[in-house]
Amino acid sequence: MTNPTSSAAIQEPRLIPRHIAVIMDGNGRWAKQRFLPRIAGHRRGVENVRSAVRSCIDKGVEYLTLFAFSSENWRRPAEEVSLLMQLFAFALEHEVAKLHEAKIRFRAIGDLSRFDPRLSEMVARAEQLTAAHTRLTLTVAVNYGGRWDMMQAVNRMVAEHPGRSYTETDLPPYLAMAYAPEPDLFIRTGGEQRISNFLLWQLAYTEMYFTETLWPDFDASAFDLAVASFQKRERRFGRTSDQVQAAIAALREPLAENR
Ligand code: IPE
Ligand code: IPE
Ligand code: MG
Repeated sequence: MTNPTSSAAIQEPRLIPRHIAVIMDGNGRWAKQRFLPRIAGHRRGVENVRSAVRSCIDKGVEYLTLFAFSSENWRRPAEEVSLLMQLFAFALEHEVAKLHEAKIRFRAIGDLSRFDPRLSEMVARAEQLTAAHTRLTLTVAVNYGGRWDMMQAVNRMVAEHPGRSYTETDLPPYLAMAYAPEPDLFIRTGGEQRISNFLLWQLAYTEMYFTETLWPDFDASAFDLAVASFQKRERRFGRTSDQVQAAIAALREPLAENR
């Protein structure tokens, strides 16, 4: 099990976030600005995933998690929902071989039971094919909701260990993303400043970055700005700044003595 970052001891600050979670928002507005149908924005949004993946690999980010379809997005017009599903299936069909070639591990999180069984089979096959890769783990959240995730985790935990009282460390192994550390950096494009039921449990101590840039326009230089913002933060996890700086100085001391 990976150590949750929010409960870890003080560590040397990372220059590069190990895990980045993104709400890719603004596709509809991108299309509207151009008098195009919303789906044209979603298509450009999918294309832009490639740029984000490339940025992560260039920088050495280990986990990239993308919110593609929320449990609330079913409330959209049926036509948009159906086109989004088709787009997801199309992307899976055409991109999985490339992910495999690039040594990227693919994972999907969310309640896949509501999908066409063919789609869940495609997801399962993509996960199996890429399971051994370690260069980058690309997780796509589809029909995902943070509340759904916490409740499915609680239900499985209680079923496995009935009649106990539980602590905060008991739940994470049952969450859909138990395989990943908590996100260090959260990015939301499209100007909205909310979490929209994304990774509620894991975002407890994540650094938040919001930008007006619409997702299809969020290119490599926009990605660099988000990471540069992260590099300026002091992550205190409840401690004081003095405590954090003293602990980091102590971590560096043996290095200084060896010089
Ligand atoms: C995000 O873009 C993609 C999905 C939610 C599928 P939107 O479709 O929410 O774009 P806006 O917010 O309408 O611009
Ligand atoms: C959040 O975007 C979900 C995804 C990007 C998949 P929305 O555009 O659906 O979020 P709200 O409803 O405006 O908060
Ligand atoms: Mg939106």
